[in-house]
Amino acid sequence: RDSLVAMTNWEKNTIKYKQQAENVNIVRERLGRPLTYSEKILYGHLDKPHEQEIERGVSYLKLRPDRVACQDATAQMAILQFMSAGMPAVATPSTVHCDHLIQAQIGGEKDLARAIDINKEVYNFLSTACAKYNIGFWKPGSGIIHQIILENYAFPGALMIGTDSHTPNAGGLGMAAIGVGGADAVDVMADIPWELKAPKVIGVKLTGKLNGWATPKDIILKLAGILTVKGGTGAIVEYYGEGVDALSCTGMATICNMGAEIGATTSVFPFNKSMAEYLKSTKRAEIAEFASLYQKDLLTADEGAHYDRVVEINLSELEPYVNGPFTPDLATPISQLKEVAVKEDWPVEVKVGLIGSCTNSSYEDMARSASIIKDAMSHGLKSKAIFTVTPGSEQIRATIERDGQLQTFLDFGGIVLANACGPCIGQWDRQDIKKGEKNTIVSSYNRNFTARNDGNPATHAFVASPDLVTAFAVAGDLRFNPLTDSLKDSEGKEFMLKEPTGPGLPSNGYDAGVDTYQAPPVDRSSVVVDVAPTSERLQLLTPFKPWDGKDGIDMPILIKSVGKTTTDHISMAGPWLKYRGHLQNISNNYMIGAINAENGEANNIRNQVTKEFGTVPEVAGYYRDNSIRWVVVGGENFGEGSSREHAALEPRFLGGFAIITKSFARIHETNLKKQGLLPLNFKTPADYEKINVTDKVSILGLDGLAPGKNLTYRVTSEDGSSWESELTHTYNQEQIEWFKYGSALNKMAAKA
Ligand code: F3S
Repeated sequence: RDSLVAMTNWEKNTIKYKQQAENVNIVRERLGRPLTYSEKILYGHLDKPHEQEIERGVSYLKLRPDRVACQDATAQMAILQFMSAGMPAVATPSTVHCDHLIQAQIGGEKDLARAIDINKEVYNFLSTACAKYNIGFWKPGSGIIHQIILENYAFPGALMIGTDSHTPNAGGLGMAAIGVGGADAVDVMADIPWELKAPKVIGVKLTGKLNGWATPKDIILKLAGILTVKGGTGAIVEYYGEGVDALSCTGMATICNMGAEIGATTSVFPFNKSMAEYLKSTKRAEIAEFASLYQKDLLTADEGAHYDRVVEINLSELEPYVNGPFTPDLATPISQLKEVAVKEDWPVEVKVGLIGSCTNSSYEDMARSASIIKDAMSHGLKSKAIFTVTPGSEQIRATIERDGQLQTFLDFGGIVLANACGPCIGQWDRQDIKKGEKNTIVSSYNRNFTARNDGNPATHAFVASPDLVTAFAVAGDLRFNPLTDSLKDSEGKEFMLKEPTGPGLPSNGYDAGVDTYQAPPVDRSSVVVDVAPTSERLQLLTPFKPWDGKDGIDMPILIKSVGKTTTDHISMAGPWLKYRGHLQNISNNYMIGAINAENGEANNIRNQVTKEFGTVPEVAGYYRDNSIRWVVVGGENFGEGSSREHAALEPRFLGGFAIITKSFARIHETNLKKQGLLPLNFKTPADYEKINVTDKVSILGLDGLAPGKNLTYRVTSEDGSSWESELTHTYNQEQIEWFKYGSALNKMAAKA
């Protein structure tokens, strides 16, 4: 039956369980041990299961994901790069979702209309490019990427990459869904195997059953407290145990979504009854049936599978948690919150309660929140705080409108925002307080870093379940514990809120709402992709020139950076977000946050030709326009942080030749290679200190560049004296081709 069941109702591509199971058998036999569920998903998608070296935490897996998903902020550069590879269509099913660019001001419809106007050319570009290259396009208003994926594309045992860090949300439906940078998405769209370091596996054993005010969100809030923001790095979190069976599918998605907050590669739940029910209610009964045939072989862990670490959580004893402020791993159980908040001097008045987002906007979440509100309103109360609701999708919005919860939110004094990220990504025109004013907000979102939601560093943002957020909105006070404390009704009589209730799925099925999907047309040849040459936000990419076969001789050092040089120092976010689709404009932020060794300042460097000081982009542009190749010198873990490929595209665009450091963050190093720059390391780390900003650097013997073979470099001082030393690199044969062709894309285009 392998070729019969479609992965989604929107496309014809079919699920390949048979093939995956065969691959898994090959690997299981080779390794001679039982496999975890997440291993089965990954190894089932290996490019070469017979040959692939496999050691968790050590070897790099070459994988063939089933799908790619991009949100609108990251899709722009990914698609521009894909276009420059010259292929007629994507080789792997892909979708684009318009959710990040909609600002919350006054409410759903008006905010959406304004966003469509402001972002017209970006939406138009994405829509025409999707049509041209056979990509499904979800228009603004359709909802948040991860909710749309769960409702339409996720299925058990599948492997997906997505250009957003909360892509793991789809683990609630048994999919290994991994957040990546745009360059990785382009590879998979163009049929290049995708590389991932074989993750370790953290097992989380759930026992008992949730009750009362405890929700799935509290499982991950507690786990974040245990593992901290770094605890999941390099690992997949895999849930198992009898406690899993009583969770709803969307609840499991919430847990996987927030696995990003502990740094996990992704999180997964094994196929179970709740997933089958969710698949049926979202019109995918056939997938549920097909999956049940493979439940034991493929869609759950082998008996005796080994986890690198095990954490056990007893759901029967779990109490609700409130995490924050400023970091999602500062976990406080509700029973202690009152005391801790007072002791830490957190503002106790709750100014705003925000529910929804990709993390917590399921029908169950909305229904439970509405049940609390109805109870409060029956005692004559309304929200004391500003209360906002972000539906995760048009389907959720339409369904809660039909079933009455939406009206309940409005009656409570709530504001229903557009089906989009909104305040979660800082797209929030907050008016109730002034910048710098200390205040508290509580959301059912996932991240609460300083200033993330409203741009105000003094805002204390806490994350909690939608149930608790709603209770805080009713009470208007962070010290309120709905499990033990009473409230006063409109007549001054004391009462306690009832425990929230709500079905996991709508009993009358989902209402699809307004149709917001644009399928690629059958005839795509006549589609013209819209990019105005005058645009400030979008720019078609011109392929980088291939290597000219010459060594780099006497190149100036653009900047020798000291201290941490993260991707934020290299290519800042914030106000630069709007230029993510315009390489020339965004290159004006290149290294503006890095500290210059010469003067300890940011964005003030000496032009080694004119001897005058200027900004980093200005000086780099001068060199490029005068055909002078340049290098950057940096320290440890250069390029850590996000996977954004702009940090590598920009130096290439500005004429850089090599980035020489003590060490690189792995993704940034690969990104540099992909764009045709040379990421090189000092063989002798002390060379970093020895190099002067005014020295000239020559990299020699490049025509003999080979895997494992060091390069020689010569450093010449202003007085003409020079010394030589060695540089190491991590190039493999294929990556050397990227350098020679000028970029990985050039190589791809040459073969297309
Ligand atoms: Fe959007 Fe926030 Fe989720 S930005 S994708 S709603 S984490």
